[in-house]
Amino acid sequence: MATASVPVQFTEAELKLLQALVYQECGMHFDERRAHFLQDRLQRRLKECQMDSFYSYYRLLISQEGKQELSRLLENLTVNETSFFRNKAQLDLFHKFILDEILHHKQERRDFSLRVWSAGCSTGQEPYTLAMIVADGLAYYYLRNPLPFEMPTPKPLVPPPWKVEILASDISYSVLRAGQEGIYGENQMASVDYSYRLRYFDKVGERYAVKKALKEMVHFDFHNLKTEYLPQRNDLIFCRNVMMYFDEAEQRRLVEKFARCLNPGGYLFVGHAESLLGLTEQFAMVHRNSGTAYQKVEVAQ
Ligand SMILES: C[S@@+](CC[C@H](N)C(=O)[O-])C[C@H]1O[C@@H](n2cnc3c(N)ncnc32)[C@H](O)[C@@H]1O
Repeated sequence: MATASVPVQFTEAELKLLQALVYQECGMHFDERRAHFLQDRLQRRLKECQMDSFYSYYRLLISQEGKQELSRLLENLTVNETSFFRNKAQLDLFHKFILDEILHHKQERRDFSLRVWSAGCSTGQEPYTLAMIVADGLAYYYLRNPLPFEMPTPKPLVPPPWKVEILASDISYSVLRAGQEGIYGENQMASVDYSYRLRYFDKVGERYAVKKALKEMVHFDFHNLKTEYLPQRNDLIFCRNVMMYFDEAEQRRLVEKFARCLNPGGYLFVGHAESLLGLTEQFAMVHRNSGTAYQKVEVAQ
């Protein structure tokens, strides 16, 4: 072991070996266009671990003792870009049409549970956006269809007997910690308008902290989308700007898994630059006012 002052250069064969390991572990696909990024992050990790040989580092990664370093490397390879209210047209489709329809059907069946999964949630802006939309959606629904009993005061964000669970998951522990903390700077708040800031955030110094009641609607947890054991019985899955880092075979496998993780008639939302076209027969596209979602359909066997 030695401290590498000059960055170690890697051969094509070494990078291919690492690519294969990363793909096997988390589904992320590094083609030629992203090889430079892979090389850069690999150099950083070697420097951090004070190693100057690819093979000793690779041996560490595949060893039992190297599990922690493997997850650190994967964290370094993820792109965590996110924002509140990202893809407004799609969220409007969710807010104004899909959520209302789901609440109506559930209420008719006297099923008062709603499960939403933000898969690849990054630092929490997506699941907290979903929590604000669901809280507003429930309030507006009961404004039009009052409940037959007095609501407790102060009014809870989730009116009884409803039970709302928003699961926020990611493969990176550092983004999960940031999400759990739920404190955001002015730049990160740019897309949050004043009415949302007033109702759902407290000002802490220069930053904004998610209010306790909203925080309680969201539960952060580690899930690697590459594995088979994923959270079941969801009404809605948001997996946006994650699949774009996977190749087509992995996207196909993931969409199959999502179909199994959704309740009948449930919805899947993917990113603006992502599509299920040609990947599956198990979903039908719903498109309205520039917003797109995919509804699970029962496929005849
Ligand atoms: C670009 S961010 C998208 C965040 C958010 N969904 C949005 O659209 O704003 C992609 C996230 O997916 C996560 N991710 C990548 N591969 C994953 C995997 N195999 N399992 C779980 N999360 C993964 C990354 O850690 C990252 O936080």
